[in-house]
Amino acid sequence: MSSQAIHKKDERPNSKLDEQLLLYKKHFSTNELPDYLKSNLGKYYTPPLLVNLVRELVLPYVRPDSVVLDLAAGCGAFLDAFPDNASIIRDIDIEAINFLKAVGYPYAMLDNSLLNVSRNKYGLHNHDHLVCIGNPPYNDITSLNKRLGINAKRDINFELDSDIRSNDLGTSFLRAFGKLGADIICVLHPLSYLIKESNYHNRLKNFTKDYRLQEGVIFSSNEFSDTQGTPFPIVAALYIKDFMGMDYEFIKQFKFKILNSDEVFVLSTYETTDGYISKYAPTRHQVKSSDIGLYMHNFRDLNSLKSIGNLSDKYQEGVFLPVQAKELYKYAYLNALRRYFPKDFRWGNLSPLVIRKQLGSDSFLRDACIIDTIVNNQRLDCFKPNSPIVIKLLADYQTKTAPANQPDIYGKFALFCNQETVLWRELEEFLKEYFINLPALMKQRKEQA
Ligand SMILES: C[S@@+](CC[C@H](N)C(=O)[O-])C[C@H]1O[C@@H](n2cnc3c(N)ncnc32)[C@H](O)[C@@H]1O
Repeated sequence: MSSQAIHKKDERPNSKLDEQLLLYKKHFSTNELPDYLKSNLGKYYTPPLLVNLVRELVLPYVRPDSVVLDLAAGCGAFLDAFPDNASIIRDIDIEAINFLKAVGYPYAMLDNSLLNVSRNKYGLHNHDHLVCIGNPPYNDITSLNKRLGINAKRDINFELDSDIRSNDLGTSFLRAFGKLGADIICVLHPLSYLIKESNYHNRLKNFTKDYRLQEGVIFSSNEFSDTQGTPFPIVAALYIKDFMGMDYEFIKQFKFKILNSDEVFVLSTYETTDGYISKYAPTRHQVKSSDIGLYMHNFRDLNSLKSIGNLSDKYQEGVFLPVQAKELYKYAYLNALRRYFPKDFRWGNLSPLVIRKQLGSDSFLRDACIIDTIVNNQRLDCFKPNSPIVIKLLADYQTKTAPANQPDIYGKFALFCNQETVLWRELEEFLKEYFINLPALMKQRKEQA
């Protein structure tokens, strides 16, 4: 290893900054920035709790001769995690690097860590044992709502090596660590990189051939006190260089731990709507009109269903998808799930959960979802009491009775269609309870299978 740009503990000049202020600047100073100024560089600094999590995970793998790299160091949240090791500190943000230099890290350097990635660039030899840690930026640089929404961030204005380019900077960072031949990688990144099959294959690419996930601890994005919006799962992931690599099946069976909980999260436990209920707007040759005049806004995952997955009686090309009469129960299920499934970061990046067998066979559950959807979407023409679909349902329901101990949804629906005032509290409670218990029910069914 060359001594060039490598930072050893006893070479650090003492910082004159008050200890408290230093801590604040390192871990929390980005809280002050408005979202758009965090820019596409992903300036979300890491709180000490999560730095410790990474440290604990990677500690058993750090040798006295390991070189610890933080190539997206920000104001240095991770820099004191391994004070006895040589370290390499980089960031593309001049303000962050100036700060680090001023407070005792003269070797911190301004650099684009995704360009000309090689050991040579850092004065490292092939035999050096490399440990990459940190919290690289994550953001989908193609995401429309990030580019165009109120929180639109500035464009990425730096180049990336073509062999590590992907739509998300975080996956480019993982591939850059792979390109460096890092022995150990322990970073925070969205869980979606691993659990969304398309991300896994299209964004991580060769990374999955050379690295194997050894540990993964999931936590909510709300652990970053300055993140807004619906929480999504982030993982502290420890990867070991391993010629066996990993495949998506390995990820599906992987036992992720959950921060501050004894529970584990195993992807294969959960059945989702993927391949069962379409969530994307129709492509050019697919049917665009609905036989009942009902459309649903397209969505990516549970979080986006919750935020944008509303129903409409108007079609909008590329945005809405048509709902046909024979699939009304499936979209009514989604509408009810949208309303009653609790916001929980663990499922946020998955497609909505569903027990297909149950939804296919339990007509009371299906009818409960349909009735709840109709009464809560009275602004839509297709759900008005005199609409063809409601008239047909009313006729069907006349022959049905609710199972014992379940709300009398059929009788109430008849009253509702007769323009009488109906209280739906029991139906709401039934659905709320069903959706709150859904993940546990799935787990139970899986264990019994
Ligand atoms: C999520 S912040 C994390 C900072 C720090 N490691 C922490 O955890 O508090 C991501 C950092 O990556 C830096 N960054 C983004 N793109 C970069 C690039 N191409 N090269 C080097 N640093 C980059 C940003 O400037 C930002 O400081």
